[in-house]
Amino acid sequence: MNIQWFPGHMTRARRMMEENLGLVDAVCEILDARIPRSSRNPEIDVLAAGKPRLVILNRVDLADPEITRLWRRHFEEQGLAIVETDAKSGKGIRDFVPAVRRLLADKMKEYEAKGQVGRPLRLMIVGIPNVGKSTLINKVAGRKAAIAGDKPGVTRGRQWIHIDAGLDLLDTPGILWPKFDSQEVGEMLAITNAIKAEVLDKETLAANFILRLSALYPQALRERYHIEPDPEKNGFELLEEAAKKRGFLVSRGEYDIERMANTLLNEYHEGKLGRLSLEKPDA
Ligand code: G4P
Repeated sequence: MNIQWFPGHMTRARRMMEENLGLVDAVCEILDARIPRSSRNPEIDVLAAGKPRLVILNRVDLADPEITRLWRRHFEEQGLAIVETDAKSGKGIRDFVPAVRRLLADKMKEYEAKGQVGRPLRLMIVGIPNVGKSTLINKVAGRKAAIAGDKPGVTRGRQWIHIDAGLDLLDTPGILWPKFDSQEVGEMLAITNAIKAEVLDKETLAANFILRLSALYPQALRERYHIEPDPEKNGFELLEEAAKKRGFLVSRGEYDIERMANTLLNEYHEGKLGRLSLEKPDA
């Protein structure tokens, strides 16, 4: 479910996060591995200041493994702990608990030194809408524990999911609002379904996207749509070419660009173009 982010929503989401952050020992920040920069809200640095943090690169099944490796190195260089997951299938989930234990080794010693033996370590998952928070919580919990969907401002009793000896996960994820500081970020979020594509004109979005793919992954376009990414052509022309190859005809000689725009975005979403990442570190 997508929601529009009005200031009231952001204030409520921020307040809820602040309240819950006070209860946890670590914050697990979930990002879309295809767009780790755009799927991150830098306000987390302020909100979670002082808390140990784990970065979860999710949707690695859809991301380019080479580029995921670069992101892993990038975040590790910043001193952040990393886990790579495909929360949908559950791949990588088993790395989650050991990574949290490594991250909180000092905290555990601290609790022991204070005589608080057996005090559970408490964690919270945070991330922008649709990034996979509920799916990840369900997989970590091993059952349908989290309620899918985003309802900022809806308060209910806090529930802890006991995930391992001495490790508890807050069942309600913290919802970060997507941060649009440029049109490019807005496009990345729309392409990956973090925000409604309708926020931008869908055909323009797909035209810009196909141009981006021509530069990043021309082979994927050749293989999937049998088109030759030609630097002389604009995005609409490339979409038209693909529509032609698919036989998406509106009338004699006129091709259905709108249908092709939807097809391209859906097929990317489903991973049918291959594992394609849209952002590299420092690029
Ligand atoms: P949220 O709580 O952060 O809002 O996200 P949620 O878990 O509801 O996940 C949003 C969608 O993303 C879900 O798809 C979920 O299955 C999918 N998803 C989550 N993690 C992964 C992953 O690692 N890989 C892939 N490929 N998908 C993932 P959905 O709502 O069922 O629809 P659809 O997106 O599958 O069409």
